[in-house]
Amino acid sequence: MKPPKTVFVCQECGAQAPKWNGRCTECGAWNAMVEERVGGAPAPAAGNRYAQFGAGGAAKLYADVDIADAVRLSTGINEFDRVLGGGIVPGSLVLLGGEPGIGKSTLLLQAAAHFARAVGPVLYASGEESEHQIKSRGDRLGVGEAPLYLLAETCIERILEEIARLKPALVIVDSVQTVFSIKFQSAPGSIGQVREAATQFLFAAKGQNIPTVLVGHVTKDGSLAGPKVLEHVVDTVLYFEGERHHAHRVVRAVKNRFGAVSELGVFEMTGAGLQPVANPSKLFLSERASGTPGSAVLCCVEGSRPILVEVQALVSASTYGNPRRMAIGLDQNRVSLLLAVLEKRAGLALAGDDVYVNIAGGMTVEEPAADLSVVAAIASSVRNRSLAPATAVFGEVGLSGEIRGIPQAALRVREAAQMGFTRIVMPAVNLDARDSSLQAETCELVGVRAVGEALDELLT
Ligand code: TYD
Ligand code: MG
Repeated sequence: MKPPKTVFVCQECGAQAPKWNGRCTECGAWNAMVEERVGGAPAPAAGNRYAQFGAGGAAKLYADVDIADAVRLSTGINEFDRVLGGGIVPGSLVLLGGEPGIGKSTLLLQAAAHFARAVGPVLYASGEESEHQIKSRGDRLGVGEAPLYLLAETCIERILEEIARLKPALVIVDSVQTVFSIKFQSAPGSIGQVREAATQFLFAAKGQNIPTVLVGHVTKDGSLAGPKVLEHVVDTVLYFEGERHHAHRVVRAVKNRFGAVSELGVFEMTGAGLQPVANPSKLFLSERASGTPGSAVLCCVEGSRPILVEVQALVSASTYGNPRRMAIGLDQNRVSLLLAVLEKRAGLALAGDDVYVNIAGGMTVEEPAADLSVVAAIASSVRNRSLAPATAVFGEVGLSGEIRGIPQAALRVREAAQMGFTRIVMPAVNLDARDSSLQAETCELVGVRAVGEALDELLT
């Protein structure tokens, strides 16, 4: 008898090799090869399986395609709808990723309850908790009377049977790493099983036009377990961010076939579940001690939404030969670059200093528009002078110390004005553009062209 054929599959990129390797030859990941058994479903069956997806056949003329039925179903939680691009699209497959204990199950249970009451029955399949545990959590969240079906099951085929039987309006699978298909013998959570689960639920979602949400676990380094395979298959990828020790959570869209990416929803974890935060700027600035050195208010834009956050910097003489540079919520390399610009173009001596930069409240900002606020906070800490009161700042800093223009200036200015800021230091290039919406604002707009000039305007 022939021995069962096995392959070694990289859990990072899905590459296969006949022998175990310490390092994947495709993506270079260390210690990621796991033995998996191949075979099981014969090829013709697979052929049939894929065929059911494309039911319909002939190509359609662009003009004939009817988009009237491209409706969106509200989850009843407006911040969640926002990241989804205005609600969940029927037949779409959504992946919600995040660290353990951050609130994925809580958010989805709340959404499921609203959805069940407003739209129709919801199937919540959990491989992690029993019906009993889910219900005791639901009682705390005020789920109450709703056509919400709970299923504690890890077998994909069983879940699909229940979907076919109940014909729910929404399916939630918590989590994709705990379910397994009987067609494969590898363990749940391995790349083969995860891929199979995603594909099977994709067929179910598209074939029966049922929106499906999969929960995905995130590994220690922040990527989804079995990441690449999953992200390509699903329509929308959402990530839960935030620190467990802070009350607020951010849900961010990193891929969305039906809406804008980098759209953001902000929640606060309370005793009664996750509550949407309608005004995040207020939340992020709530603990700001104004008038202290080393603090600047940045107006960043996430997706279509402007948010004010506080950038904090602390510069202190280093007691060791090798000064520490640390950035939380910002790109470390970007901060190093800005430190070099400050040394060379603004004459600040930082070589012997430890520099710590942090975005208050655990937010993460990636856009270059944050540069000027980082520079301002560091200079403010070095000179021990606070920033001018009621002043917000944004702008990109170039290597020659020039302040570069950034997109969506008017949106940022409007948000800052609404939050009570009366003076905004921003790139002169954006002011020169003569954007009429900028002229209408009541606050004072100060355009700057170089780092030195910006610091003169900012520091009191
Ligand atoms: P959970 O949704 O179970 O996380 P995940 O599914 O992402 O692993 O979140 C659990 C955390 O949320 C837990 O630490 C307790 C906290 N929590 C509250 O603070 N209030 C609540 O009402 C609920 C249900 C949970
Ligand atoms: Mg959970």
